[in-house]
Amino acid sequence: MSGKLTVVVGPMYSGKTSTLLSMIEIYTLGKKRIKVFKPVIDDRYSSDHVVSHSGQMAEAINVYDSSEIKEIVSKEKGKLDAIFIDEINFFDENLLRIVEEIIFSGVDVFCVGLDLSYKHRPFAVTANLMAAADEVIKKKAVCHICGEYNATVTHRISGPTDSEIDIGGMEKYIAVCRDCYKKLNAKDWG
Ligand code: ADP
Ligand code: TMP
Ligand code: MG
Ligand code: ZN
Repeated sequence: MSGKLTVVVGPMYSGKTSTLLSMIEIYTLGKKRIKVFKPVIDDRYSSDHVVSHSGQMAEAINVYDSSEIKEIVSKEKGKLDAIFIDEINFFDENLLRIVEEIIFSGVDVFCVGLDLSYKHRPFAVTANLMAAADEVIKKKAVCHICGEYNATVTHRISGPTDSEIDIGGMEKYIAVCRDCYKKLNAKDWG
Protein backbone atom coordinates (compact mmCIF):
# COMPACT_ATOMS: atom_id res chain seq x y z
CA MET A 1 0.00 0.00 0.00
CA SER A 2 1.21 3.52 -0.79
CA GLY A 3 2.14 5.86 2.02
CA LYS A 4 0.38 9.15 2.77
CA LEU A 5 1.82 12.62 2.32
CA THR A 6 0.86 15.21 4.93
CA VAL A 7 2.09 18.80 4.56
CA VAL A 8 1.83 21.30 7.42
CA VAL A 9 2.34 24.97 6.54
CA GLY A 10 1.85 28.40 8.06
CA PRO A 11 3.76 31.45 9.23
CA MET A 12 6.55 31.36 11.79
CA TYR A 13 5.45 30.46 15.36
CA SER A 14 2.24 28.78 14.10
CA GLY A 15 3.16 25.39 15.57
CA LYS A 16 4.43 23.60 12.47
CA THR A 17 7.41 22.04 14.24
CA SER A 18 5.24 21.29 17.31
CA THR A 19 2.77 19.43 15.06
CA LEU A 20 5.66 17.46 13.55
CA LEU A 21 6.88 16.58 17.06
CA SER A 22 3.39 15.35 18.05
CA MET A 23 3.26 13.09 15.00
CA ILE A 24 6.78 11.82 15.77
CA GLU A 25 5.60 10.97 19.31
CA ILE A 26 2.53 9.12 18.00
CA TYR A 27 4.63 7.02 15.60
CA THR A 28 7.23 6.39 18.31
CA LEU A 29 4.56 5.28 20.82
CA GLY A 30 3.27 2.91 18.15
CA LYS A 31 6.80 1.47 17.79
CA LYS A 32 6.88 2.51 14.14
CA ARG A 33 10.21 2.74 12.35
CA ILE A 34 10.87 6.37 11.51
CA LYS A 35 13.57 8.82 10.44
CA VAL A 36 13.51 12.59 11.02
CA PHE A 37 15.33 15.02 8.72
CA LYS A 38 16.20 18.68 8.86
CA PRO A 39 18.25 20.91 6.55
CA VAL A 40 21.80 21.67 7.66
CA ILE A 41 21.21 25.39 7.07
CA ASP A 42 18.89 25.67 10.09
CA ASP A 43 21.20 25.64 13.10
CA ARG A 44 19.16 28.08 15.23
CA TYR A 45 18.67 25.85 18.26
CA SER A 46 20.51 22.60 17.56
CA SER A 47 22.32 20.97 14.65
CA ASP A 48 21.06 17.45 15.31
CA HIS A 49 17.56 18.01 16.68
CA VAL A 50 14.30 19.40 15.39
CA VAL A 51 13.44 22.06 17.98
CA SER A 52 10.22 24.06 18.39
CA HIS A 53 10.08 27.69 19.56
CA SER A 54 8.73 26.37 22.87
CA GLY A 55 11.82 24.18 23.36
CA GLN A 56 10.46 20.70 22.60
CA MET A 57 12.74 18.57 20.47
CA ALA A 58 13.42 15.29 18.72
CA GLU A 59 16.61 13.85 17.27
CA ALA A 60 17.05 14.49 13.56
CA ILE A 61 19.48 13.76 10.75
CA ASN A 62 21.04 16.88 9.24
CA VAL A 63 21.02 16.77 5.46
CA TYR A 64 22.54 19.12 2.88
CA ASP A 65 19.94 18.47 0.19
CA SER A 66 17.06 16.23 -0.84
CA SER A 67 19.34 13.65 -2.51
CA GLU A 68 20.73 12.78 0.93
CA ILE A 69 17.19 11.94 2.10
CA LYS A 70 16.79 9.67 -0.94
CA GLU A 71 20.10 7.94 -0.21
CA ILE A 72 19.33 7.33 3.48
CA VAL A 73 15.78 6.12 2.82
CA SER A 74 16.95 3.81 -0.02
CA LYS A 75 19.42 2.13 2.35
CA GLU A 76 16.51 1.34 4.71
CA LYS A 77 14.49 -0.32 1.92
CA GLY A 78 11.31 -1.85 3.37
CA LYS A 79 12.34 -1.04 6.94
CA LEU A 80 10.65 2.33 7.43
CA ASP A 81 7.06 3.24 8.26
CA ALA A 82 7.39 7.02 8.05
CA ILE A 83 9.76 9.90 7.56
CA PHE A 84 9.45 13.45 8.92
CA ILE A 85 11.00 16.56 7.37
CA ASP A 86 11.18 20.00 9.02
CA GLU A 87 11.77 23.30 7.16
CA ILE A 88 10.94 22.01 3.67
CA ASN A 89 11.15 25.63 2.45
CA PHE A 90 14.95 25.36 2.67
CA PHE A 91 15.18 22.35 0.34
CA ASP A 92 15.84 22.19 -3.39
CA GLU A 93 12.93 21.52 -5.74
CA ASN A 94 13.98 17.86 -6.30
CA LEU A 95 12.41 17.16 -2.92
CA LEU A 96 8.99 16.72 -4.58
CA ARG A 97 10.14 13.85 -6.83
CA ILE A 98 11.98 12.17 -3.95
CA VAL A 99 9.00 12.44 -1.58
CA GLU A 100 6.73 11.05 -4.31
CA GLU A 101 9.02 8.02 -4.74
CA ILE A 102 9.01 7.50 -0.97
CA ILE A 103 5.19 7.58 -0.64
CA PHE A 104 4.79 5.27 -3.65
CA SER A 105 7.16 2.84 -1.90
CA GLY A 106 4.72 2.61 1.04
CA VAL A 107 6.27 5.02 3.53
CA ASP A 108 4.27 7.88 5.11
CA VAL A 109 5.83 11.34 4.76
CA PHE A 110 5.17 14.32 7.03
CA CYS A 111 6.60 17.61 5.78
CA VAL A 112 6.41 20.97 7.49
CA GLY A 113 7.56 24.42 6.46
CA LEU A 114 6.76 27.95 5.44
CA ASP A 115 4.26 28.40 2.63
CA LEU A 116 5.11 32.11 2.14
CA SER A 117 8.25 34.18 2.55
CA TYR A 118 8.14 37.50 4.38
CA LYS A 119 7.69 39.03 0.91
CA HIS A 120 4.39 37.14 0.63
CA ARG A 121 5.80 34.95 -2.15
CA PRO A 122 5.30 31.17 -2.11
CA PHE A 123 8.29 28.92 -1.53
CA ALA A 124 8.07 26.78 -4.69
CA VAL A 125 9.19 23.56 -2.98
CA THR A 126 6.41 23.90 -0.37
CA ALA A 127 3.78 24.78 -2.99
CA ASN A 128 4.70 21.71 -5.04
CA LEU A 129 4.49 19.39 -2.04
CA MET A 130 1.11 20.90 -1.07
CA ALA A 131 -0.17 20.04 -4.57
CA ALA A 132 0.85 16.39 -4.19
CA ALA A 133 -0.31 16.00 -0.57
CA ASP A 134 -3.11 13.76 0.71
CA GLU A 135 -3.66 16.29 3.48
CA VAL A 136 -2.59 19.93 3.87
CA ILE A 137 -2.85 21.54 7.30
CA LYS A 138 -2.63 25.34 7.42
CA LYS A 139 -1.69 26.60 10.86
CA LYS A 140 -2.19 30.07 12.38
CA ALA A 141 -0.22 32.01 14.99
CA VAL A 142 -1.20 34.84 17.34
CA CYS A 143 -0.70 38.17 15.51
CA HIS A 144 2.19 39.98 17.21
CA ILE A 145 0.56 43.34 16.44
CA CYS A 146 -3.18 43.01 17.19
CA GLY A 147 -3.13 39.90 19.38
CA GLU A 148 -5.77 38.01 17.40
CA TYR A 149 -5.31 34.30 16.68
CA ASN A 150 -5.36 34.88 12.93
CA ALA A 151 -1.73 35.37 11.86
CA THR A 152 -1.22 33.69 8.50
CA VAL A 153 1.90 35.53 7.30
CA THR A 154 5.38 36.45 8.54
CA HIS A 155 6.66 40.03 8.63
CA ARG A 156 10.37 40.86 8.65
CA ILE A 157 11.16 43.51 11.26
CA SER A 158 14.87 43.86 10.50
CA GLY A 159 14.70 45.36 7.01
CA PRO A 160 14.60 43.79 3.55
CA THR A 161 17.25 41.39 2.22
CA ASP A 162 18.24 40.32 -1.29
CA SER A 163 17.59 36.69 -0.50
CA GLU A 164 14.27 35.42 0.82
CA ILE A 165 16.28 32.90 2.83
CA ASP A 166 17.63 34.24 6.10
CA ILE A 167 17.67 32.13 9.26
CA GLY A 168 16.39 33.81 12.39
CA GLY A 169 13.77 34.18 15.09
CA MET A 170 12.05 36.97 17.01
CA GLU A 171 14.91 39.39 16.37
CA LYS A 172 14.06 39.30 12.65
CA TYR A 173 10.53 38.03 12.16
CA ILE A 174 7.04 38.30 13.66
CA ALA A 175 3.80 36.53 12.77
CA VAL A 176 1.00 38.84 11.70
CA CYS A 177 -2.55 38.77 10.37
CA ARG A 178 -3.20 39.95 6.85
CA ASP A 179 -4.57 43.35 7.93
CA CYS A 180 -1.53 44.11 10.09
CA TYR A 181 0.77 42.81 7.32
CA LYS A 182 -0.88 45.21 4.87
CA LYS A 183 -0.35 48.18 7.20
CA LEU A 184 3.27 47.22 7.86
CA ASN A 185 3.99 46.73 4.15
CA ALA A 186 1.85 49.55 2.74
CA LYS A 187 4.64 50.46 0.32
CA ASP A 188 4.24 47.08 -1.48
CA TRP A 189 0.64 46.11 -0.72
CA GLY A 190 -1.15 49.30 0.34
P1 ADP B 1 6.82 26.96 13.91
O1 ADP B 1 7.61 25.74 13.58
O2 ADP B 1 5.54 27.06 13.08
O3 ADP B 1 7.62 28.21 13.80
P2 ADP B 1 6.85 26.01 16.64
O4 ADP B 1 6.09 24.74 16.71
O5 ADP B 1 8.35 25.92 16.63
O6 ADP B 1 6.32 26.88 15.39
O7 ADP B 1 6.52 26.97 17.86
C1 ADP B 1 5.21 27.16 18.32
C2 ADP B 1 5.35 27.84 19.68
O8 ADP B 1 5.81 29.16 19.50
C3 ADP B 1 4.04 28.00 20.42
O9 ADP B 1 3.71 26.82 21.11
C4 ADP B 1 4.38 29.15 21.38
O10 ADP B 1 4.99 28.66 22.55
C5 ADP B 1 5.45 29.94 20.63
N1 ADP B 1 5.00 31.24 20.11
C6 ADP B 1 5.76 32.36 20.10
N2 ADP B 1 5.10 33.37 19.50
C7 ADP B 1 3.90 32.89 19.11
C8 ADP B 1 2.77 33.44 18.42
N3 ADP B 1 2.76 34.72 17.99
N4 ADP B 1 1.70 32.65 18.17
C9 ADP B 1 1.71 31.37 18.59
N5 ADP B 1 2.73 30.79 19.25
C10 ADP B 1 3.83 31.53 19.50
P1 TMP C 1 9.95 28.39 11.62
O1 TMP C 1 8.84 28.45 10.60
O2 TMP C 1 10.18 27.03 12.17
O3 TMP C 1 9.81 29.43 12.66
O4 TMP C 1 11.32 28.69 10.86
C1 TMP C 1 11.38 29.51 9.73
C2 TMP C 1 12.82 29.76 9.34
O5 TMP C 1 12.83 30.36 8.04
C3 TMP C 1 13.57 30.75 10.25
O6 TMP C 1 14.95 30.36 10.36
C4 TMP C 1 13.53 32.06 9.49
C5 TMP C 1 13.52 31.60 8.05
N1 TMP C 1 12.80 32.47 7.13
C6 TMP C 1 13.39 32.76 5.90
O7 TMP C 1 14.50 32.33 5.61
N2 TMP C 1 12.71 33.56 5.00
C7 TMP C 1 11.46 34.05 5.26
O8 TMP C 1 10.89 34.76 4.40
C8 TMP C 1 10.86 33.74 6.54
C9 TMP C 1 9.49 34.24 6.84
C10 TMP C 1 11.58 32.96 7.44
MG1 MG D 1 9.55 25.31 12.92
ZN1 ZN E 1 -3.07 41.63 13.39
